[in-house]
Amino acid sequence: MNTMAAPATRKRIGVLISGRGSNLAALLRNECGGDVVVVGSNKLDAKGLELARDAGIDTFAVNHKQFPSREAFDQSLIDELTARSVDVVVLAGFMRILTPVFTDHFAGCLINIHPSLLPSYPGLDTHARALADGVKLHGCTVHLVTSVLDHGPIIAQAAVQVDDDDTAETLAAKVLVQEHQILPYAVRLLCEDRLQVDGLRVSIRSVGAGLGRAVSEAAG
Ligand code: GAR
Repeated sequence: MNTMAAPATRKRIGVLISGRGSNLAALLRNECGGDVVVVGSNKLDAKGLELARDAGIDTFAVNHKQFPSREAFDQSLIDELTARSVDVVVLAGFMRILTPVFTDHFAGCLINIHPSLLPSYPGLDTHARALADGVKLHGCTVHLVTSVLDHGPIIAQAAVQVDDDDTAETLAAKVLVQEHQILPYAVRLLCEDRLQVDGLRVSIRSVGAGLGRAVSEAAG
């Protein structure tokens, strides 16, 4: 009898972007518990799409302006992603507000990276707003997405110190370094089914018997 455990199926990850795609690059550079099988954008000229194509990854672009409603746009995104049988969707600098049509469809397997320590500074211009408020710590958050913008169970956060001479640009650069650390980490936890969610609180299950790959990595 073959007693070897079957290898866990790797998750198929879809990534949505709107711009340069440095967080996408971090996902491709690091082990994130699954394979990025498709990258989509609402911007036809998003730099991150080139990056994905260069890496041999399937891409699509859907111009949100061509849809009569947010819901219709969201449904087209769902169609593109489900056509590639994705298990997990990562919003990595995707700058469109999604409706419940999308967030309900992918509930529990939809992750967003946001450039602030949520619940502080949801929305745009987070670095300038943090500076204007004189905060001494700023940072980034990866969370599960709900229908409420920039709100949802927090998986990981990283903080940076705000220095006296920081500008919105220098602060953004410091935060971005941390984003590239916590996004692959959080995606891996989701792909390895290690998140236990209780309301807004997320705890991380320790590596168990069903996580053969992680165990063998730790051992070896
Ligand atoms: C990142 O800083 C990300 O946190 C932010 O957009 C940037 C995308 O950069 N996302 C949001 O503001 C979403 N509300 P990237 O394209 O280089 O990954």
